[in-house]
Amino acid sequence: MRALGWALLALLLAVGRSAAQECDRVYVSREDQDEPAPFEAPTLHNPLGHSRQCLLKFIAQPHQRVKISFRLMRLRGTYPDCQHEYLDVFSELRRPDEDLLETPFGGRFCGMIAPRARISLYNSLVLGFYTDQAETDGELFYGTYQFINASKYELGTPIPGSPCSFEINHSNQKRKGLLVSPTYPGVYPKGLNCEYRFVGKPGQRIRLEFRDFDLFMGGHHCPFDFVRIYDGANQSAPLIGTFCRPERNLVKYSTGHQLLMTFVTIQRTPNPEKRGFSGIYEFSESFVNLDFITGQHIRGTECDQRILSKRESSGMVYSPNYPFPYLQNIVCKYFIYGMKDSQNLERVLLMFDMFDVPGEALQTGTTIAEYDSDTDKGCDGGYVRIYLRGQYTSSPLVFPRCDGGYVRIYLRGVTAATCASTCAVRTRAHPLVFLRCDGGYVRIYLRGQEVKEAFDKFDRELCGRQVPESVRSNGARLTLVFSSGATQGSGFKANFKFETEYQSDHLYLPTECQSDHLYLPSEYLIPGTAAPDGSCRFTYNSAAGKRGDFNSPRHPANYPSATACEYTFETQRNEQVRLVFDNFKVRAENINGSAYG
Ligand SMILES: *[C@@H]1O[C@H](CO)[C@@H](O)[C@H](O)[C@H]1NC(C)=O
Ligand SMILES: *[C@@H]1O[C@H](CO)[C@@H](O)[C@H](O)[C@H]1NC(C)=O
Ligand SMILES: *[C@@H]1O[C@H](CO)[C@@H](O)[C@H](O)[C@H]1NC(C)=O
Ligand SMILES: *[C@@H]1O[C@H](CO)[C@@H](O)[C@H](O)[C@H]1NC(C)=O
Repeated sequence: MRALGWALLALLLAVGRSAAQECDRVYVSREDQDEPAPFEAPTLHNPLGHSRQCLLKFIAQPHQRVKISFRLMRLRGTYPDCQHEYLDVFSELRRPDEDLLETPFGGRFCGMIAPRARISLYNSLVLGFYTDQAETDGELFYGTYQFINASKYELGTPIPGSPCSFEINHSNQKRKGLLVSPTYPGVYPKGLNCEYRFVGKPGQRIRLEFRDFDLFMGGHHCPFDFVRIYDGANQSAPLIGTFCRPERNLVKYSTGHQLLMTFVTIQRTPNPEKRGFSGIYEFSESFVNLDFITGQHIRGTECDQRILSKRESSGMVYSPNYPFPYLQNIVCKYFIYGMKDSQNLERVLLMFDMFDVPGEALQTGTTIAEYDSDTDKGCDGGYVRIYLRGQYTSSPLVFPRCDGGYVRIYLRGVTAATCASTCAVRTRAHPLVFLRCDGGYVRIYLRGQEVKEAFDKFDRELCGRQVPESVRSNGARLTLVFSSGATQGSGFKANFKFETEYQSDHLYLPTECQSDHLYLPSEYLIPGTAAPDGSCRFTYNSAAGKRGDFNSPRHPANYPSATACEYTFETQRNEQVRLVFDNFKVRAENINGSAYG
């Protein structure tokens, strides 16, 4: 009885082993093979429903990787338990014969959703297929495998201790190269800690451009997987940024000749199945030299700067390389920001001293419009503004007629036709010329458009050799974008000045069109006729109105300090002025007794 028992057990073991051997597969790279080849699920007859496990093992040459792409999967287990039938992925084996219990687990899959493409981290990859179903065939899952050259993953000199850390030293490396995450475009592994140390020659800067960026985001501040870029040799250097959200065109520059990038993925995430990143790096001495910057360089950009007011301060801005010609194909942004708080409100005045940005204003389009000053009614909503070439002034209220000159039209909010009915702009059979700088240009934004990245909605586009007129911001911010295109010129030099704003937009826009441009509610402002020079001087003429309100700047908010305002009331003959203060609150120490004397 006992002997029979042993015999039966031995028989069962033999059957089990031979069945297991029968369903394992090994695919080994032959030197000449680099085309994708098919693989499929094993065919099993398993009438007793034993648990069966089959390993599909792919082994590449030492300088190759394995790439697996699934075409179809329809396993009978259901996610997330995956009972009865599933597929396990192991793509991080250091050696083909490594114990699967020791190697990181690459995920369990079942149902109809196949794993995304995988590329092994070393030279082998294993798929473990488990089933207790009676019949299986090749239709349960199939796809292709390929042995690919691993050289594109060797970015530089390996840094010991991590399979994905490299020093990319320009002294022994190309000027330009590919920058890919460790198993791109296959799903990246969990628990990675990769470092990319870029070392250029003194005088060089480093540029990273990502063309595909696909990380598990999981949170606003990138608490899980992320790429971090430091502006220097190590993690003590200033941070350029931490990135994890999908980016379409992520481009970053170092300030000096060293840059460190890290790629960290955490161990405990669901199966996000993300590709990682792919891009290029470049070392160059011809990225913009930052010496022209007079404000604060915005770290990570090629040449953008921020200039913040120190209260009615002023200064200069220059084109890159000034006074020498600028280089081609560069774009630099200047964010010139005045103060804007309860005590201070400033605007920016920009005056050009020198201007040489070759580029011809092209004439395009034949739309027709002309302003009719006789029937000026007023826009409600959008409007059309017309400027003759070179005559944009701080007062677009003056609408020149388009008799022969070049005319530019800005449409905002509504179409010309809509506006025509409400705004007294008539359309006429009269050719109108649109201007566009064909080469380099300077674009100016006066209304804070950059906050919404609305860089196509500029207020001025300047090119040529004529020194442009001064511009004033409409609100606290002025942004200038210089783009050299294919041109080279001496560039520009301009003065900026932060001025205290007393009356906000009223000076610059026809009242009918103010609604969508007001930065402050009108009660903050001073009614009356403002002095044309923008100083705090207001006139109230009896002919324009017999009564009205006036107030201190930005009433009922605090008035700005160090302010002197003048209010002039002009009467007609036989009239007197009566002033009634509804509210009077002036800080006592500011009162200079002699002024009342
Ligand atoms: C792999 O690619 C590198 C660079 O393209 C090449 O130099 C090398 O010969 C390739 N190796 C094989 C085995 O094809
Ligand atoms: C970069 O390579 C050069 C030449 O091999 C070497 O002298 C230098 O020390 C390297 N720099 C770093 C930071 O490793
Ligand atoms: C980081 O790099 C700087 C500049 O190369 C060096 O002075 C500093 O010692 C480094 N810090 C660490 C922690 O390695
Ligand atoms: C008062 O005003 C006069 C003349 O403007 C000036 O000289 C003087 O310094 C002022 N005094 C104070 C206390 O501000």
